[in-house]
Amino acid sequence: MVAILNDNTLIINELSELLSGGQKLAYVRSFGCQLNVSDGEKIKGVLKKIGYSFTDNENEADLIILNTCAVRESAEDRVFGIIGSMKKLKELKPSLIIGVAGCMTAQSHIAEKIKRSYPQVELVVGTSAINALPKLLLEVLHGRKFAADIAEYDDFSAEVEQVRESPFKASVPIMFGCNNFCTYCIVPHVRGRERSRRPEDIISEVEGLVRSGYKEIMLLGQNVNSYGNDLDDTISFPQLLRSLNDIEGDFIIRFMSSHPKDASRELIDTIFACDKVAKHLHLPVQSGSSDVLRRMNRRYTAEKYLETVDYIYSIDPDFSLTTDLIVGFPDETNEDFQATLDIIKRVRYDNIYSFIYSKRSGTKAAEMPDPVTDEEKGLRMRKLLEVQREISTEHYKRFIGRTMRVLADDVSKKKQGFLTGKSNEFIIVEFEGDPSLIGQFVDVEITDAMNWAVTGRIKKGNA
Ligand code: SAM
Ligand code: SF4
Ligand code: F3S
Repeated sequence: MVAILNDNTLIINELSELLSGGQKLAYVRSFGCQLNVSDGEKIKGVLKKIGYSFTDNENEADLIILNTCAVRESAEDRVFGIIGSMKKLKELKPSLIIGVAGCMTAQSHIAEKIKRSYPQVELVVGTSAINALPKLLLEVLHGRKFAADIAEYDDFSAEVEQVRESPFKASVPIMFGCNNFCTYCIVPHVRGRERSRRPEDIISEVEGLVRSGYKEIMLLGQNVNSYGNDLDDTISFPQLLRSLNDIEGDFIIRFMSSHPKDASRELIDTIFACDKVAKHLHLPVQSGSSDVLRRMNRRYTAEKYLETVDYIYSIDPDFSLTTDLIVGFPDETNEDFQATLDIIKRVRYDNIYSFIYSKRSGTKAAEMPDPVTDEEKGLRMRKLLEVQREISTEHYKRFIGRTMRVLADDVSKKKQGFLTGKSNEFIIVEFEGDPSLIGQFVDVEITDAMNWAVTGRIKKGNA
C-alpha cells in the first residue's frame, strides 16, 4: 500500500520554533550500502531544514539517528549492540532523542523488537518515509513515547535534498527497490519493488552538482542497469548514461550495481563510447557454479556471465572488473566452491567483495537445508581471499609504466606526505602530493603495484 506525504512546511516551522534557543546537534550514522549512506545524507537534509547542526560525537548529540542495514545478521547485531549501549546516554541526558531508520525498520519483527526491548528508542522512520521525520520528531517533542512511520510512500523521499559528506564526490540514486528476489537477499523485502526516478530529475540534479564543482557522480541502484523499465516513456540505462555524458564539465560518471542479466552489449558499448563514463564495471557474479546461481535465482549461468566478460575483454583486454561473491550458500559443495575459485582466476577481477552467506528470515534460501559447517565456510572464505590477493598483485602490475587519471580523495593513512585517490578504473592509487590537490583530477605515472593499490608519482606539469 502506498501513500503520499503532505507538505512539511508548517511542521518544520513549528519544530524550528520549538527547538530555537541554543544550537541543536544531531548525530546521524549510516551502516549500510551506498544507497543507505545516501539516505543518511537525506536525513541530514531534512534535519538541517529544521535547524539542526551535525556532530560526529554521539555524546554531545541532542538527536541520534541510526540508519541501519539488514543485509546480513552481523550488521543487525551490531546495531542492536549500539542501541543497547545508548541506554546510558539517554539516562544521562533524558532530553536526548534516539531514532532508528533504514532497512532494519522495514522488518516488522525488528520494529516490534525495538519497541518492546529498547525503550530508549522513541522514533522509527522507514526508508521511504524520510519526509515523515519532522512529523515524528514533533510528536516526540510533544511527549509521545514512541513515534513510528514505516509505510511505503510513493514519493519515496526521492527528491529530498541531501547534506553531502563530500564536496567533490556525489552519489545520485536513480532508482529504488529491487524486483529480482535473489533467494538469499533481504533487499526486495525491505526496499520494495523497483521505482525509477524521472530522467529529467536525474539530469538536472547532475547538472547542478557539476555546476557546483562535483567531480565524481556515482549513480546508484540495486540493479542500475534495469533503470527505466518501470517508466512510461521508454528510456534505458544506456540512454540515461549518454544524456549524462553530454553534460558539459570535467567530471566522471560511475554507477553501481549492475546485474549480469541486464549487462547488455548496448551497455558495454555505451561505456566505451562515453568519455566521462568510468572504464570500470562492478558486475556481481555471486558464485562460479551455475547450479548455485540457479538456486540463488540469479537468472544467468556462469557461461553466460563469461560471455559478457569475454565481450568486454574483446574490446579492452585490460578492462577493470570488480565483483561480489557469496561463500557458503546453502549446500554449496566443494565442487561449487572450486567453480568460484575458477571463475575469479578466469576473469581476473581487480577487486572482490566477498561475504559469508547469512541466513535472512523471510527469504527463500532461509528454508534450504544447509549442511556445510561454519568452520568449512570460514576456510573457504580464507582460501578465496588468498587466491584473490595473488590475482590482484599480479593483475595490478599491468598499470606499471602507465599514466592514470586519479581523483585525489584524501591524505594517505599508510604513508606520510602521500595522497590517496581512485583512478578512472576504480583502482586505489597512492602518490606523493600536496593536500591542496584533494578534490582534483591528477595524472599519476604508476611505478609500483601492491595487492590493494598501485603507487606512483604525479606527472610533471600536472600540478
Ligand atoms: N543489488 C546488488 C547486486 O545484486 O549485486 C547488491 C546488493 S547487496 C546490498 C550487496 C551484496 O551483499 C550482494 O551482492 C551479495 O553479495 C551480498 N549479500 C546479499 N545478501 C546476502 C546474504 N544473505 N548473505 C551474505 N551476503 C549477502
Ligand atoms: Fe539483492 Fe539480488 Fe536485488 Fe541485488 S539483485 S538487491 S542481490 S535481490
Ligand atoms: Fe543497503 Fe543494507 Fe538496505 S545493503 S539496501 S542498507 S539492507
